[in-house]
Amino acid sequence: MPLIQQQNVHRHKKVIAAADAAGRSLSVAAVENDFVERVYDKLASVYDLTFGPTLHAGRVQALQRMVVAPGSRILEVGVGTGINATLYPRDCEVVGIDFSASMLEKARERFERKGITNVRLLQMDAADLKFADNSFDIVYAPYLISVVPDPVQVAAEMRRVCRPGGQIIFLNHFRSRNPLMARAERLISPFTVHIGFKADLDLPEFLSQADLRPVSIEKVNIPKIWSLVTCVKQ
Ligand SMILES: C[S@@+](CC[C@H](N)C(=O)[O-])C[C@H]1O[C@@H](n2cnc3c(N)ncnc32)[C@H](O)[C@@H]1O
Repeated sequence: MPLIQQQNVHRHKKVIAAADAAGRSLSVAAVENDFVERVYDKLASVYDLTFGPTLHAGRVQALQRMVVAPGSRILEVGVGTGINATLYPRDCEVVGIDFSASMLEKARERFERKGITNVRLLQMDAADLKFADNSFDIVYAPYLISVVPDPVQVAAEMRRVCRPGGQIIFLNHFRSRNPLMARAERLISPFTVHIGFKADLDLPEFLSQADLRPVSIEKVNIPKIWSLVTCVKQ
């Protein structure tokens, strides 16, 4: 049990047990919220440097895929340091949620520096969103879904809070279709969780378990090993 923190086993036993059978086929790595939260609390001060410019092309492309109108309600799940905030049109109402207090503090500092007023920040677990059904036009998870313990539960919550006809968008690294690369990703995944993500999340299996049918899947960033997955809620 390398990554499951012993002291939290009892508190999270039910969650892990439920996620286990389905989760094993998604990734070889198992994590819990407490572990992920600690990783991101530590990463907060260096996040923009390490995951900023290298992953930014994908963020820009995701914004280009969004069908945005004045007043559109957008939910960013895993808002982190608020690195996407300047990309959203100022006439949209954006809510950014994250469970890491340190990442949210960085986002607050950024918004103050840049005068961003249309993005509201809330501390919340992506697997248990505190919003009513159908609350948003666009629900967007940039670089989040391979981070969370139960990606399928997070996708279910994203779908629930998205209005019918709205967009559900994932920007993420998923397991390669190249068998050699896929094997390497499976091997390193128990280690990459220490720097914030599972390297081997299986996209087709994730989409199937989450019952999502994407309208497009595009390869983004350089090298093109990240995917921009756009779905529309039926
Ligand atoms: C890789 S960062 C992505 C940040 C930003 N969206 C970006 O484009 O770079 C992942 C973020 O998701 C947050 N996170 C991880 N698991 C979460 C959960 N279960 N609920 C809410 N936030 C979570 C982390 O704290 C971290 O800030």
